[in-house]
Amino acid sequence: MNVPSLESLYQCSDQELDQRIQAAKDRLGDRVVILCHHYQREEVYKFADLTGDSLKLSRLAAQRSQASTIVFCGVHFMAEVADILSAPSQMTILPDLAAGCSMADMADLPQVEEAWKALGRVIPVNTQVTPITYVNSTAELKAFCGAHEGTVCTSSNAGKILQWAFAQRPKVLFFPDQHLGRNSAKRMGIPLDEIVVYQPDLPLGGLKEEEIHRARVILWNGYCSVHQMFQPVHVALFRNRVPGIRIVVHPECSMEVCDLADDLGSTEQIQQVVRSAPPGSAFAIGTELNLVNRLKHELPDREIHFLCPTICMCSTMFRIDTQHLCWALENLVQGQVVNQISVPKREAALARIALERMLQIC
Ligand code: 13P
Ligand code: SF4
Repeated sequence: MNVPSLESLYQCSDQELDQRIQAAKDRLGDRVVILCHHYQREEVYKFADLTGDSLKLSRLAAQRSQASTIVFCGVHFMAEVADILSAPSQMTILPDLAAGCSMADMADLPQVEEAWKALGRVIPVNTQVTPITYVNSTAELKAFCGAHEGTVCTSSNAGKILQWAFAQRPKVLFFPDQHLGRNSAKRMGIPLDEIVVYQPDLPLGGLKEEEIHRARVILWNGYCSVHQMFQPVHVALFRNRVPGIRIVVHPECSMEVCDLADDLGSTEQIQQVVRSAPPGSAFAIGTELNLVNRLKHELPDREIHFLCPTICMCSTMFRIDTQHLCWALENLVQGQVVNQISVPKREAALARIALERMLQIC
């Protein structure tokens, strides 16, 4: 078999692609493991060996040492985590390198270093502030946290990680998702006037010195554009329309939406809530459409709605299609590696410190 060009795969029917992916999987056997995030489109998700939210996938990447290659169907930061936590003999492939995360792109290392310096002119950051990066961030920001006695959190453990951080130092710098940071801090009982937002484009983040002195949580000004689509009015609409409905949302949604929800959780936790409910239960779910549609299909005896009236999907997760998956696998069959994610050694070592700290805490 010749190595296919990616373009040629766009001429194939869905059925042919499915057959070729399965044939390549069969030939590669245990040498390859396909990890899939819950936001992946169905055509790809059905080929997953293992699925999960960011925390579960991080753990799986650290555990699957028998496979020499991890094919990661998700976005760039997730593949970086897999590369960092997997054994040195393993490699990680992201079938489409353009599958990024717009939120992760909202904070880069020079900006965070600049913020650390600026805050350091007001408070002694090295003894007063723990940096925490949401896993939706570049490896270099995880390395920054590793180098500054900080750690990483995911949407399923942010509360526990904040608790750990406050046991170390009185303040936290949390990046890049302001919403996950605010929702988690608020649920711990931290008052809103002790939570401030740092705007990297403004001198001192647009904050006054006294606000920095008073703040316990300094949030980066980042957000997920997909989860900002869910609005309080959508919650009200469903509560009126379906008596007894439960509203379940991802903590990347705004505080106004999260405060109105019945349950808040990562993609894995959202699924657990819905799966463990009795037949006949009604839910409106505020997270990416592929996950919600999959739950609808899997659980026809529950009434499941998408919380937003318009379609909101993660366009970068959607970049991983069957053509890219087939291309990556068939190249592997031919002994060729395409789209390897390889975090530079020094950065990976520091990022690993921060990630392993997280895995130990939770
Ligand atoms: P989870 O960790 O909940 O899977 O979230 C990842 C993500 O990117 C949500 O937008
Ligand atoms: Fe990033 Fe939002 Fe997509 Fe999650 S849904 S990967 S946070 S852009």
